[in-house]
Amino acid sequence: MEWRVGPSRTHFFLYTPPLDNKDAVQMGNLRTYLRMARHAEDRVRGALRLNDSQSKLERDAQEFWTRQPKQQSSFWWHLRGSDPFVDDQLWLDIGKKHVNMYIDAARMVGFERPVETIVDWGCGGGANAIHFGAECKTLYGIDVSQDALDESVKQMQATQPQCNYVPIKIDVPDPESVLGKIPAGIDMFYCLYVWEVFPSQAYGQRILEIARKLLKPGGLGYVQIKYEKDVWTRSRRWGYTRGVANMTRYRVDQFWELIQAAGLQPRHLVLIPKPHEVPDFDYAYYFFQKPMDA
Ligand SMILES: C[S@@+](CC[C@H](N)C(=O)[O-])C[C@H]1O[C@@H](n2cnc3c(N)ncnc32)[C@H](O)[C@@H]1O
Repeated sequence: MEWRVGPSRTHFFLYTPPLDNKDAVQMGNLRTYLRMARHAEDRVRGALRLNDSQSKLERDAQEFWTRQPKQQSSFWWHLRGSDPFVDDQLWLDIGKKHVNMYIDAARMVGFERPVETIVDWGCGGGANAIHFGAECKTLYGIDVSQDALDESVKQMQATQPQCNYVPIKIDVPDPESVLGKIPAGIDMFYCLYVWEVFPSQAYGQRILEIARKLLKPGGLGYVQIKYEKDVWTRSRRWGYTRGVANMTRYRVDQFWELIQAAGLQPRHLVLIPKPHEVPDFDYAYYFFQKPMDA
């Protein structure tokens, strides 16, 4: 199924999941009930002002991502060869899918590739970097986990030795520190399988602002978020370590408008309700550009 909406060269796609058996329908119902329960709890906490402060959420996030990843929990930063990725093809599919989506989107919006410089925000164990390394001369891998960065260096050295890979460690409360470490004027910025673990929507807005500052005019941004399907928009804003994979979500139209609010031009949107490589749902991918006159 495919829609095209908005001005010319602005695109909207929906990939529908197969829901043709009883189990899938039952799983869908269960997920809906759980989501409603989560919503109710979030609203009660919001009404009673039981949310965590912004600084507590950021501190908890840093603490969470600094933990030594155990083999079974290494899913959090997508460690190659760990239990969730005993099937190496699944791990390879993450970056392969993402680079293919980038190639399609670049063609649609008229963005020339390969490029000189790319930023990978939240690079984890390098699942995307090893594919995007073939798309640029210098790739900056940004992460809040030193273990993840070390692993990404290992993967890059093994697969993309010709690419100048620059790992940069940041702390959750101070993402702006990268602005002093990466020269402005980069060609492409991507952030995949990370935005939903940001502490809040306000934090997400800071990252969009950083992307705008880093990109050159005409540069391309590529961000995946998890979208919200219910009538109200929810961001969890409490208990970071209990709900890390769903901390920050948006309505599909809302994130489009937040990109605009950050002074960037949304160009293309892809929805994937059920990605095959990870056990998760409701992924929206946005492509946007920094205006030429910015
Ligand atoms: C699920 S992994 C995804 C890794 C990689 N992007 C991928 O697709 O395989 C999430 C990664 O985001 C990193 N992360 C968490 N919060 C972050 C933040 N505020 N800024 C940058 N990276 C962050 C984590 O350390 C972890 O490596």
